[in-house]
Amino acid sequence: MLGAHILVKKSLEIHGSVEVAGAKNAVLVIISSLILAKGRSVLDNVPNSSDVNHMIMLLQDLGAYVEFNVENKQLTVDTSNLNKFEVKPEIMNKMRASILVMGPLLARFGKAKVAFPGGCVLGARPIDYHLNGFKKMGIKIEEDGCYINAEKIDSKEHLNSRIIFEYPSVGATENLMMLAALTEGQTTIVNAALEPEVLDLVDILNKMGADIKCGNGAFLYINGVSELKPVHHAIIPDRLEAGTFLLTAAITGGCVTVTNAIADHMDMFVEKMREMGHKVETGVCADENNPTRGIRLTGTRLPQGVKIKTGPYPAFPTDLQAPTMAALCLANGTSLVEETVFENRFMHVQELQKMGAQISLAGNQALIRGVENLYGNNLIATDIRASCALVLAGLAADGQTHVSGLHHWRRGYDQLEIKIQALGGQVEINE
Ligand code: EPZ
Repeated sequence: MLGAHILVKKSLEIHGSVEVAGAKNAVLVIISSLILAKGRSVLDNVPNSSDVNHMIMLLQDLGAYVEFNVENKQLTVDTSNLNKFEVKPEIMNKMRASILVMGPLLARFGKAKVAFPGGCVLGARPIDYHLNGFKKMGIKIEEDGCYINAEKIDSKEHLNSRIIFEYPSVGATENLMMLAALTEGQTTIVNAALEPEVLDLVDILNKMGADIKCGNGAFLYINGVSELKPVHHAIIPDRLEAGTFLLTAAITGGCVTVTNAIADHMDMFVEKMREMGHKVETGVCADENNPTRGIRLTGTRLPQGVKIKTGPYPAFPTDLQAPTMAALCLANGTSLVEETVFENRFMHVQELQKMGAQISLAGNQALIRGVENLYGNNLIATDIRASCALVLAGLAADGQTHVSGLHHWRRGYDQLEIKIQALGGQVEINE
């Protein structure tokens, strides 16, 4: 007996236009950043996903007042009465992104008590870069069992910290930047992550009154200020949701336009779609502020295999690796996918193999030999992006595909199945 799952049926060429929601990996950290600005802030383009609702619950637990107008995707957060700096384990364990309140709590209260975020299927996902960076900024870190107790030490020796990341960690860059925004002196982050979602955080912090500049290459210079003000900010469009929609056209030979996608955020993905032989037009819905807005993909009937290597932005995004692999399973010839960001991000491979995909794994590399057809099956999604990969494969597979792990799908997206249905995709949720 199948539990709650996503039912997908073979769908002929998927056609139409669609608008993506605000970026999940921007909105979560930006909601957390509102802790830095006492008062009432308003966010537009907020997706109604379970991760967003978890972050809302976290802030409410700390004493924030939150109103979410789901219809017009507007979130109002008043942090005037924030009165706690502790995050309970049951909240931390629900979502790894909860660790992103640590920097803001330290900045506002000088203290933070958070449980260690759990790992996940993608790997151990340690937080050593976060903690070592905090220590360099004069934070005393003590671990007792499952809690991390952090406290700012009042000393002048930590003015003007220079933090060097051996890997451009997105979360660590964000956490330290938020603490630095309200820390006296200049904090420099060397080898910072510069994903569009990180830069959206830089944008809202500067709107609040922060002084953050991007240097040549991956350098961030943050001059601490004494106070940040509440703001009204629109979250950037989700490049990962946009990639998923474009892949619905790629895998069915259809034609899809993502009207609000920002092509400048998706260069490597667009490049690889073109290498596969798909026609990709950018700037199809350009406006004077954003000449590359709007991307249209017209799928070729004879897609070619390609090589993909994931990495920090602007390399190919790890979050589009699984969805793209689904399309490569039906491409002519051989494809090679190398995953360099997470140590265990091939959990979707065994599920695709159940559909007839020819994929062999060697360490962090997957060799994919294109096949003529995929066949529907009962599959298990292990993370947000894997759920997309399996639904995409189901759109092209003969027969029916049942994808369990509905909570992953719900975590990352705001009714993605409704939008795919509107494009002609046969996808429905069976609770
Ligand atoms: C963010 O995770 C995203 N999540 C991930 O999206 C995304 O895949 C990832 O960045 C890479 O782009 C959010 O923004 C909420 P990292 P994050 O710190 O910040 C290692 C999705 O599907 N590392 O850049 O956790 C880590 O183990 C999710 O939307 C350390 O070793 O990513 C990983 O191998 C999945 N020590 C690598 O760095 C640390 O202290 C990249 O992690 C931190 C990270």
